[in-house]
Amino acid sequence: MSQLVKIFDTTLRDGEQSPGATMNVAEKVRIAEQLEKLNVDIIEAGFPISSEGDFEAVRAVSRAIKRSQVAALSRTNPKDIDRAWEAVKGAKYPCLHTFISTSDIHLKHQLKISRQEVVRIAAQSVARAKRYTPDVEFSAMDATRTDVEFLIAVCEAAIRAGATTINIPDTVGYAIPSEFGKLIRTLKQRVKGVEKVTLSVHCHNDLGLAVANSLAAIQNGARQVECTINGIGERAGNTSLEEVVMALRTRPDLFQFNMRLGPRHLYATSRLVSKITGMVVQPNKAIVGANAFAHQSGIHQDGILKEKLTYEIMTPESVGIPKTSLVLGKLSGRHAFKERLKDLGYRLNDMDLQRAFDRFKQLADKKRDIYDEDVESIVVEEIIRIPRRYKLVYLNVIAGNVTVPTATVQMEVDGKLIQEAGFGDGPVDATFKTIKKITRTRSKLLQFAINAITSGTEAQGEVTVRLEEKGQTVIGQGADTDVIVASAKAYINALNKIEFKKQKLVGM
Ligand code: KIV
Ligand code: ZN
Repeated sequence: MSQLVKIFDTTLRDGEQSPGATMNVAEKVRIAEQLEKLNVDIIEAGFPISSEGDFEAVRAVSRAIKRSQVAALSRTNPKDIDRAWEAVKGAKYPCLHTFISTSDIHLKHQLKISRQEVVRIAAQSVARAKRYTPDVEFSAMDATRTDVEFLIAVCEAAIRAGATTINIPDTVGYAIPSEFGKLIRTLKQRVKGVEKVTLSVHCHNDLGLAVANSLAAIQNGARQVECTINGIGERAGNTSLEEVVMALRTRPDLFQFNMRLGPRHLYATSRLVSKITGMVVQPNKAIVGANAFAHQSGIHQDGILKEKLTYEIMTPESVGIPKTSLVLGKLSGRHAFKERLKDLGYRLNDMDLQRAFDRFKQLADKKRDIYDEDVESIVVEEIIRIPRRYKLVYLNVIAGNVTVPTATVQMEVDGKLIQEAGFGDGPVDATFKTIKKITRTRSKLLQFAINAITSGTEAQGEVTVRLEEKGQTVIGQGADTDVIVASAKAYINALNKIEFKKQKLVGM
């Protein structure tokens, strides 16, 4: 049995299926570059048939990535497979990933086809994909609710047709570790030809068991884990990459496997994905949460001061959590700023570097200490994120306890300057109502949250808003030392995401 466990990252595909986590092409390329830096084995870049945007993103990621494999997802019909190949063919190591449901529940209620037809379609789709590339992954969707004898038959058909990876998804997060481990062991023992392929698992977290199920699968013969950064993904999300990786590394007594992936950039990657998707990492999240290495109780602090081993099973440095996040100030120069960006994993061209540095100087005038989070906000919010239809130019708000809150907003809409003023129940309400007037949008505000991302009264406020329009929800984020400006940026960011979503043609 091979002792290498491959890490297949699907942040850009299943991760993007998290409500509101839509990413544009530049954002996807940026995340893919970071995943390559982590040494992820395979990056699933998207589902090309689902939209023009996804097609473009897979194409751009395929061109940008040189060391990791790039996979494109497709259903089993020929048009899907051809489109996926068209998008991924520029990759140095391309892979086609095709899937069909195998459970009776899906066959009866969704696909309305027989088991025999599924076997035939699975084989045909793998054979078609195989005409394009030697690396073909086949997934039996809803495998954990599939009759085992039938699952074996489908896997054998896919292998005979040339699949090189067989993926067993727990699509609805239904499995329990002991049961899932047994299923993987059964497939490893009974599927003819399984020794020629990589057995992979793809677990969802509906019962909070995705990581546990993935580990049980590895102990029983799986050699590829599909996962996402911060565990984002459809519904309750997918297996969290950082958790599964650190479990494998922290318990070599139980898991004697190799991985290409190094954990040093896990924290930076988690931050980047959180910033770009707008999906906040809960403070108690394992490995990358703000409290993951914070010791609060006196007994624990006493132990840590005497010997870290007492209460720490891994060091924060091993996952790239900086010892101190205090980095720069008003007197810091361009060189120090550039070095800090490099440490945080950002490489900018000269023009973007100058723009980021100018913004940093403006911020340093308002705020004494500039933390890593501040630097990241500048880069992600203002440099990487391409401004689209709507752009904030000017905001002036009058508020207080004896005046009607009033906002004057100037925006660029499709390159045209528009200015409006409006009232509201508070300064944020007045700002949002005025932006709505300017953009003539109809979205509904579902959620509004402010979070101080650095400390002190001059902290950067990070605002997250969730908007809904015609059943589509998006999350927008904005950061600024002024929380009203941060709110306006978050609102406009969300409106731009809605515009981006409108360009999507087919949902998954
Ligand atoms: O959850 C699932 O079954 C999937 C497949 C497309 C692999 O995401
Ligand atoms: Zn999935």
